[in-house]
Amino acid sequence: MSPEINLTRDPAHLRHGSNIGQPLTRREGMLKVTGAAGYAADNHPPGMLYAVLATASIARGRVTSLDVEAARRHPGVVEVMTQMNRPPLAEDPDAKTNPFMFRMDLLQNDRVRYANQAIAVVIAETLEAATEGAVLLSPRYEAEPARVGLDSNESYAPPAVGVGNPASVQHGGDVESALAGAPHRIDATYETPMQYHNAMEPHAIVASWDGDRLSIDTPSQGMAMAQGRIAGLFGISPDKIHIRSPFLGGGFGSKGLVKGPQVLGILAAKLVGRPVKLVLRREQMYGPVGHRSPSRQRLRIAAAADGRIAAIDHHARIATSSFDDFYEPAADASHTLYASPALATSHEAVRTDVGTPLFMRAPGEATGSIALESAIDEMAFACGLDPLAFRLKNYAEVEPATGKPFSSKALRECYAQGAERFGWSKRSLQPRTMRDDDGFLVGWGMGTATFPALMFAAQARAVIRHDGSGVMESGTHDMGQGAWTAFAQIAADSLALDLDRVAFKAGSSDLPDAGIAGGSAHTATAGTAIHNAGAAVIGKLAELATSDQRSPLFGAGNTGVVARNGRLFRRDDESRGESYADILTRAGLAEIDAQGSGTMDPAAQSNYAMHAHGAVFAEVKVDPDLGQVRVSRMVGVFAAGRVINPRMVRSQLLGGMIWGVSFTLHEQAIIDHRSGRIMNANLSEYHVPVNADVPRMEAFTVDELDPHVNPLGIKGVGEIGITGSAGAVANAVWHATGVRVRRFPIRIDDLLTSEVAGRVG
Ligand code: MOS
Repeated sequence: MSPEINLTRDPAHLRHGSNIGQPLTRREGMLKVTGAAGYAADNHPPGMLYAVLATASIARGRVTSLDVEAARRHPGVVEVMTQMNRPPLAEDPDAKTNPFMFRMDLLQNDRVRYANQAIAVVIAETLEAATEGAVLLSPRYEAEPARVGLDSNESYAPPAVGVGNPASVQHGGDVESALAGAPHRIDATYETPMQYHNAMEPHAIVASWDGDRLSIDTPSQGMAMAQGRIAGLFGISPDKIHIRSPFLGGGFGSKGLVKGPQVLGILAAKLVGRPVKLVLRREQMYGPVGHRSPSRQRLRIAAAADGRIAAIDHHARIATSSFDDFYEPAADASHTLYASPALATSHEAVRTDVGTPLFMRAPGEATGSIALESAIDEMAFACGLDPLAFRLKNYAEVEPATGKPFSSKALRECYAQGAERFGWSKRSLQPRTMRDDDGFLVGWGMGTATFPALMFAAQARAVIRHDGSGVMESGTHDMGQGAWTAFAQIAADSLALDLDRVAFKAGSSDLPDAGIAGGSAHTATAGTAIHNAGAAVIGKLAELATSDQRSPLFGAGNTGVVARNGRLFRRDDESRGESYADILTRAGLAEIDAQGSGTMDPAAQSNYAMHAHGAVFAEVKVDPDLGQVRVSRMVGVFAAGRVINPRMVRSQLLGGMIWGVSFTLHEQAIIDHRSGRIMNANLSEYHVPVNADVPRMEAFTVDELDPHVNPLGIKGVGEIGITGSAGAVANAVWHATGVRVRRFPIRIDDLLTSEVAGRVG
């Protein structure tokens, strides 16, 4: 089938072109595997110096001395930037005017608010000299006791959670009375640890000033927002700032907003009047660039004798920093999935001496999901029901927290396909009843996945050139997930051209603002902008042709024209048409262009609950003597609207599922309660899964046509894979062993001390 678009732009008439839906490989894959892709830190402008952060080894207090002279005497050190000589800023780094604005540590005073906070920047001719200079500063402190962990401070009700959700929500009847009167009840508390994003590529910046113009290479999930933030801090207009962010080595949310260390790089360049490169060392990423808040979540669920849920109460205690406000919306995970006549969610927060937590892949959703899915599993067993049967019995036909209908929800299909592919019907109800031939305890668990289908705001510009080729411009971000490939596919179809006839331009702030690559909404938002820009330029071209007496399309009218393969045709007579090139050449135009934007339709947003869904099934094997857990296979089936590129989507879903394994069995930042320092701020002791930890893993999507989310019907797949998966693994561990571990990650000692041999928890 050739590319075709419908100029009426009615979603009901939207057709798949030849590019959307194809499992193409990453367009920049060859550049990456051959090392030719240039990341931010690969840039070396002439005269460039290296900057290295000196960071605090205490978590709370003040810096009383720095031996700046010792650092300055080091050959190769050019300058040391401290609070005494840091160039002035136009804006207080502690100012906050919206929830997307985070307070920064930019050497504004001598306070230390968390370990690994920058306390000075050493700038040198070489990386080695800058690194040694930072050591020579030998800081002294006046330390105050660090408050770390969820019990280290008084709690309070946060003003909002996430980026503006209400901190507590109630829907339907009274939770307490429903709990009191129910025949089946559970009351369980789950704990999740601090986690760190740990993108392969650390935060990095190469900054050059030319008068009041600033040029930056830095990995970014949101260039226009970074531009705006930097412009405010330096008191210059955003159009004086050029950000290049062609490739990212991962982001996971931590590169969504420009962070303090990047701004310190810009300040350093200003101080020395030369280009400066600043790259965080791995351990320096455990502090100033965000993390996932720890949580303690209490789930109380009540069910009737037949297993129908009567009440869900989900309360989360979370931590934030002493000086800023990000609140992991963990309890919100219970808003979407299970029908309940009484539903309540609430949050309380504590201030601790850590860097401010931030969105980290499925912020709130992942944290809340592992608790909710564990609790649902516990409740199913309490009711004597199979976990899938229990979920089907409590399937939400409307969104539980709002009563709104779903714009689409193919979750039943996910459950059915997932169960079939996994072989779920052969599962025993009782735990600790399945073994493999080698004597390992076998456990099967499942979880439901969900993530909201969001849209932010994005722009794109489409061009058709006189030779019939196309250009699509949108300052989109590719964190490695293959976004640019998907966007190029949408671009080609929107222009009704072959992929190789379209130049797709992205990754630079001088292109139309593509918004933020976050909230799993980038493909939906920027994809809609691209789709609309393409349709708009084709519309202009059609107008040109249909109003020109020399054109075979004369008088056909805009809606009477179809675009396909670089040509416009009459809808009622396909023999009458002409090429883009002919239309533009006759009109004497070098090119024609049009803009498009992508935003959420406010009517859809107020009328519908819009979410992607999925069902994840996991098998674990547990050594009955040693308590060692191995995930042996996983199957995930997801419904996420239209799939632009099945290969990239599968890769996103698998990545999320692997993170689910990681959440349940591996990841945990361990903090020293005396010093407030992270003790495993490195990739050898902060455990993430390696190949040997990743089992046979399969991810599938089911067809789901959603006419409401956006014209292309995209729901997003970046984050949903973690949700459901973490709970599925935890539930499988319980099913294998009979031991219910409610503190994550599950460790060998949890299973051994609870005696793998015997206890049913
Ligand atoms: Mo994602 S945590 O919205 O980058």
